[in-house]
Amino acid sequence: MTDLAVEPQHKPLKGIVPVPSDKSITHRALLLAAIAEGESAVVVSSMGDDNRSTLAAMVALGATATERENELRIGGVGLEGLRAASGAIDCGNSGTTMRLLAGVLAAQRFQAVLVGDASLTKRPMARIANPLRQRGARIEGELVRNKPGEITAPLVIGPLPVPNVLSAISFDSPIPSAQVKSALLLSGLYADGSTVVSEPVVSRDHTERMLDALGVPVQRAGSIVSLDGGAFSGKLPAFSLTVPGDLSAAAFLAAAASLVPGSEVGVRGVGANPTRSGFVDAIRMMGANVELSPETVQLGEPVGLLRTTHAELRGVTIAGELVARSIDEIPILAALAARAHGVTTIADAGELRVKESDRIACMAAVLRAFGVEVEERRDGLVVEGKPDRPLTAADVDSEGDHRIAMSAAVLGLFANGTSRVRNVDAIATSFPRFAGTMRALGANIRAV
Ligand code: S3P
Repeated sequence: MTDLAVEPQHKPLKGIVPVPSDKSITHRALLLAAIAEGESAVVVSSMGDDNRSTLAAMVALGATATERENELRIGGVGLEGLRAASGAIDCGNSGTTMRLLAGVLAAQRFQAVLVGDASLTKRPMARIANPLRQRGARIEGELVRNKPGEITAPLVIGPLPVPNVLSAISFDSPIPSAQVKSALLLSGLYADGSTVVSEPVVSRDHTERMLDALGVPVQRAGSIVSLDGGAFSGKLPAFSLTVPGDLSAAAFLAAAASLVPGSEVGVRGVGANPTRSGFVDAIRMMGANVELSPETVQLGEPVGLLRTTHAELRGVTIAGELVARSIDEIPILAALAARAHGVTTIADAGELRVKESDRIACMAAVLRAFGVEVEERRDGLVVEGKPDRPLTAADVDSEGDHRIAMSAAVLGLFANGTSRVRNVDAIATSFPRFAGTMRALGANIRAV
């Protein structure tokens, strides 16, 4: 198991660097390319382990893939061309792989078994199984003691017996979840009738944008999306896509640049989708000097340069729709809060308890280890920011969660000595070159 050693940062962070391709968009591109007609070209840089899980799953189900430098050529088999895998499909640490794939597998005439690592095996799956069952799918999982109705992986999905077809559905999701919405929309490609999903606030809309760009009849009104199965041709065209850079990875670099005096950091080609860019809005509210202006569009996704220069930050309240638009960035926002003047309150973020780790509890523990005063609440955190004195150098465990590990490493830049972040291998799920990129900007972070 790898650890990171982080030295206090005494000089500005400077440079223009790339980040890995957007993890959410890459999952969708690989999945849709596999069920499209013919060969798609997907350009991805520095793909992490989570996306590799989706790629391996689609190959196990019959698609072909060749990889040359950054370009993946995916041979799609068409909507009806997937075949049974020879064994269980391993989704690794990736909730998105398991939940989105479940939507496609729900409609197949063969059975599939989805497994994952220890963290993924603890994550709730009833949220996708129940609505998929409502439209006629067979999905079984492990029952969870003390949580009636909840199931976890391994998931056994299908077969959908001939002549059954998935039925229309109108689903009111109690939580904003792009994984739930996407599982339903993907199953909707195979359904007889329409798929309507409404959410309390809009979650990331990459699936809708990509389906729309591929000619699937998808309509949106506020936080309601519908796919008209009756008007769909039953065929997805092959496509070419250069996946934008991942704002969720760039957020760690922007956060560090905001906090280190004199810093100027740019990240090229970052996804600027407004349903994802809550982080930019939140740190701007805190007083950050950050810009993300769309320059081009890739398969419906705006892309731009993210520029951050140092600024003094102040505490704010982060809640409601802003949380839905920055759900994966809440750990690094909590880290920023520790270096802002005054109190930051994060609320409406109860979903963080069922991510790769319990991110509320883990971030509270990490912040405390660095000497920060923090109150843990059921649905968030209250962080007392004290930017005028160094943090206490800490020795913390990431609990195997990539975003906790990178947030802790950023905190280490402001400590009064060398900090150690333990158990950071999971960083490879989303940002394999995190430490190297931070070093390129002038930080002293190394694997030990
Ligand atoms: C994702 C959706 C979000 C997010 C996850 C990626 C996606 O999860 O936290 O990292 O690509 O659809 P939820 O759908 O559980 O909110």
